[in-house]
Amino acid sequence: MAKLFEPLQIKSVELKNRIVVSPMCEYSSVDGFSNDWHLVHLGSRAVGGAGLIITEATAVSPEGRITPDDLGIWKDEHIEGLKRIVTFIKSQGSIAGIQLAHAGRKASHSSPWKGGKMLWLEEGGWNTVAPSPIPFREGERPATTLDKSGIEKVVADFRDSAKRALQAGFKVVEVHAAHGYLLHEFLSPLSNQREDNYGGSFENRIRIVLEVVDAINEVWPKDLPFFMRISASDWTDGGWTLEESIQLTRILQTKGVDLIDCSSGGNIPHAKITVGPGYQVHFAEAIKKETGILTGAVGIITTPEQAEEIVASGKADVVIIARQFLRDPYFPLHAAHSLGVDVEWPVQYQRAKL
Ligand SMILES: Cc1cc2nc3c(=O)[nH]c(=O)nc-3n(C[C@H](O)[C@H](O)[C@H](O)COP(=O)(O)O)c2cc1C
Repeated sequence: MAKLFEPLQIKSVELKNRIVVSPMCEYSSVDGFSNDWHLVHLGSRAVGGAGLIITEATAVSPEGRITPDDLGIWKDEHIEGLKRIVTFIKSQGSIAGIQLAHAGRKASHSSPWKGGKMLWLEEGGWNTVAPSPIPFREGERPATTLDKSGIEKVVADFRDSAKRALQAGFKVVEVHAAHGYLLHEFLSPLSNQREDNYGGSFENRIRIVLEVVDAINEVWPKDLPFFMRISASDWTDGGWTLEESIQLTRILQTKGVDLIDCSSGGNIPHAKITVGPGYQVHFAEAIKKETGILTGAVGIITTPEQAEEIVASGKADVVIIARQFLRDPYFPLHAAHSLGVDVEWPVQYQRAKL
């Protein structure tokens, strides 16, 4: 039996296999609401046999959106649409997870197919917030520095959003602390030049992340999985490092975080990243080896054999797949066939089973 199709128990939740749909922004919302696109997009991957499906970056506040078109969960009215999606995912034997996000200094942009540029206030943009007023790209409007009450609001927004996620029926919560968004901006000395107790030392730079975890723990049940996506390295001298990721993970373990979703980069526009098949797997492997926590490997994982090798060799516990799932929503069903595993297909599709 291929390891990729062995179930994985995390707290009270069992994933039927080790294949996870990675969060992917769809930029298809109005005022943060989910709609038919999200149902079909996420629902198709549930039909396709994924063990866990994590929503796109879902904004915890309007100012935390990357674009005006982002999915959100900052108000109770958002719950109903999300619940419909979660219910469908569950009906297919898959688990629904949500990625909670705040874009920090990378907020207030247009969607990629509308140019992907920073939106000025007169174009419908908004003032962004960040640990320090350092723009991501030269020429961009600098963010407003978060003061203590601003930080408290961010932390409360994550908590309230997690509560709504629970009401919508999600079984996994993932905090987005990667890709140069707000929490990563605090972690990295490249974007955090504060002189208060949220900047400077490692203990200070991780403080807001720990506060977010503690706040979510106030509302998120102890028996439901808690993931965190990090950029395990900034790939830049003077930036956040793998060693710091390991140190942070050790602390997160004591706070009930179950799995580290190991991505990288995104905080500096011109970081030198060697990109290729499985190029971030070594982060998942190192963090797992050093701490014993569950890890997810992500980044150019495209074939069943590659995915199987990653989990069978113990480099990671799950593979987290983005673009291959856009090419092939039925990737898990196809992977099972190539690896010689008999998995259930939706009854409606059984006449086509490979
Ligand atoms: C269309 C698209 C949207 C994405 N949106 C998100 C997102 O909302 N949150 C996130 O953490 N990563 C996001 N990513 C990054 C992916 O989750 C993933 O980490 C990256 O694409 C590498 O995996 P892949 O090689 O399997 O595509 C996005 C990627 C794509 C292609």
